[in-house]
Amino acid sequence: MSSRVPPLAGRGDLLRLFLPRFTRDRNDRINMKDYQLLQQKYVVNTYPDRHITLIKGDGVYLYDQNNQKYLDMMSNYGVSIFGYNNPHINKFLRNQLKNLVVLHGSFNNNTRALASQKLIEKCKGYYAKVYWANSGTEAIEAALKFAVLATGKKKFISCIGGYHGKTLGSLSATSGEKYKNPFEPLLWQFKQVTFGNEKELEKAIDKDTAAFVVEPVQGESGVIVPPKDYLKKVRDICNKHNILLIIDEIQTGAGRTGDFLASEEVSADILCLGKGLAGGLPVGATIVTQNIANKIPKHIHTSTFGGNPFVCAGVIKTLEILDDRLLNQVKNLGEYFINKLKAIKSDLILQVRGKGLIIGVEVKDKRNALLKFLQDEHVLVIPAGENVVRFLPPFIITKENIDFTVEKFKKCVDSL
Ligand SMILES: Cc1ncc(COP(=O)(O)O)c(C=O)c1O
Repeated sequence: MSSRVPPLAGRGDLLRLFLPRFTRDRNDRINMKDYQLLQQKYVVNTYPDRHITLIKGDGVYLYDQNNQKYLDMMSNYGVSIFGYNNPHINKFLRNQLKNLVVLHGSFNNNTRALASQKLIEKCKGYYAKVYWANSGTEAIEAALKFAVLATGKKKFISCIGGYHGKTLGSLSATSGEKYKNPFEPLLWQFKQVTFGNEKELEKAIDKDTAAFVVEPVQGESGVIVPPKDYLKKVRDICNKHNILLIIDEIQTGAGRTGDFLASEEVSADILCLGKGLAGGLPVGATIVTQNIANKIPKHIHTSTFGGNPFVCAGVIKTLEILDDRLLNQVKNLGEYFINKLKAIKSDLILQVRGKGLIIGVEVKDKRNALLKFLQDEHVLVIPAGENVVRFLPPFIITKENIDFTVEKFKKCVDSL
């Protein structure tokens, strides 16, 4: 190995599998400015290193510094839902850039006001108001604090396998010893119950329970789709025991499952959105009913950048582009993709599951090898859980992009 190889970013299998390519590329590109080296040297190493340096995006493709193109089947963990360099989004953002980028929430603003109104209308529930943040985890932090303010209670229930972020409040709701252990004791009291089992939820509730936090489809833990009507039953139980329902749609919302919300059949008390909601810009949204909004005092929770006009312009354009035609397209492409993946015959594949364009393929083993093979074939996908290959493509992919991906996936599965 070259003596100029930087310290390792993480020590998992994923990294080791990508290492040989890294060394080879280093030699090939000896005269080029090595951003990989710089990033590994100067950025705190909390991420595994995928060993490619991507510098440009256009449509469904990302390009490395040698202008090699990669088909993006992960949209940056579900963020870049309209692909890259989207002319509609860009034009709108450029206009907002000229007018006003940032404005504190204590001043009113046309773009923020319209984004908030359009979002509440798009959610079609009993929701009344939105609190704007800058990321998913912040949306959850606000949700937990609002639930405490509304109920005066501090006990929560979340799900085994649930993922809600990694700041201290959301980490308390998130499942997974490896993320939590170093930071115990975490906040308040969080009990965890089996996802998809409403009876367990009912047993876990006591008189001090404030709220139940749940994803409509568990993303990070492996694209787990609950039984039909699970959320409706959960809603009934929350009503019966007078606890709040917090639905985390940070990964599933903004059209990912083929509906604007995956939880459209129920109304939560607090709904969290993030990821693709601003068409690729950093955003978090905590949406509440009027009852909850009435119990949130001024000054109690704020954010300098939250609701800035630039990001709100991204939200307005996103809500406009996400019309019924595009949502139907997400549904149809999702079905097409899932059926094609299901048609692959291989002992390595245990299950293909998903809804719309959040799709997971559970494999017996060799998941990380599959990710690496696909990357070598210039298709970018991401992991979920222990053994799931996750596809979160942009909504603008075509059937040809899906055919290409499935063909490469089959080739990789066959070669392992
Ligand atoms: C369901 C869910 N909730 C919360 C989060 C945290 O969002 P962020 O990484 O933007 O803080 C994620 C991120 O993957 C998520 O999938």
